[in-house]
Amino acid sequence: MPTTDPIAFTRQLRELRQTRRFTGQSVPEDVLADILDVARWTGSAKNTQPWHFIVVTDTSAIQILSEAGQFAGFLAGAPLVIVVAMAGKSPRSEPYDEGRLSERIMLAADAHGLGAGTGWFAPGAAGEERVKHALGIPDEMRVLQAVAIGYPDDADQRARTVIGGRKQIDEVVSRGRFGTGSR
Ligand SMILES: Cc1cc2nc3c(=O)[nH]c(=O)nc-3n(C[C@H](O)[C@H](O)[C@H](O)COP(=O)(O)O)c2cc1C
Repeated sequence: MPTTDPIAFTRQLRELRQTRRFTGQSVPEDVLADILDVARWTGSAKNTQPWHFIVVTDTSAIQILSEAGQFAGFLAGAPLVIVVAMAGKSPRSEPYDEGRLSERIMLAADAHGLGAGTGWFAPGAAGEERVKHALGIPDEMRVLQAVAIGYPDDADQRARTVIGGRKQIDEVVSRGRFGTGSR
């Protein structure tokens, strides 16, 4: 249960955004420990917890990660990256589990005044395989993405390249029958 009032809490959820620019300040260890604890408590199908988190702070390793996806370049500016390795055993439920997990990492970072952003890796040798090799992740695991964490740079707001709006409520909600609108 949220300890803040519901409107403040849902505003925080609504305002959560992808952060792509960070200051050089490192993430305190106690904050990292809290974020990882939130991550490990994420629910998963049959409570399988099919994940392993590799915390990366070494700049040359982060550089490799930043080159492993078409839009992953921003990772290079982060002081810390959590690479999410999934078990690779359940192709239907694991992507769902991973989405929940990523979002919780971002929310936990946000609660500590940090910014976070997902970086997606390319398939095959240019992306996933390269990341696995660099970090010693077993072959059978799946590595789709990493979450960068750090203190957001003030310029981040202006640096967003993707239009940040959302579809209108009637475009995405129906009552009772598809396409009827939200009221
Ligand atoms: C599965 C997934 C993969 C993403 N991959 C990237 C990425 O590689 N690089 C990036 O800059 N943003 C990435 N994003 C962030 C989205 O672009 C972002 O959430 C979306 O544009 C909405 O922007 P906002 O969160 O700032 O409102 C990804 C998001 C998701 C859910």
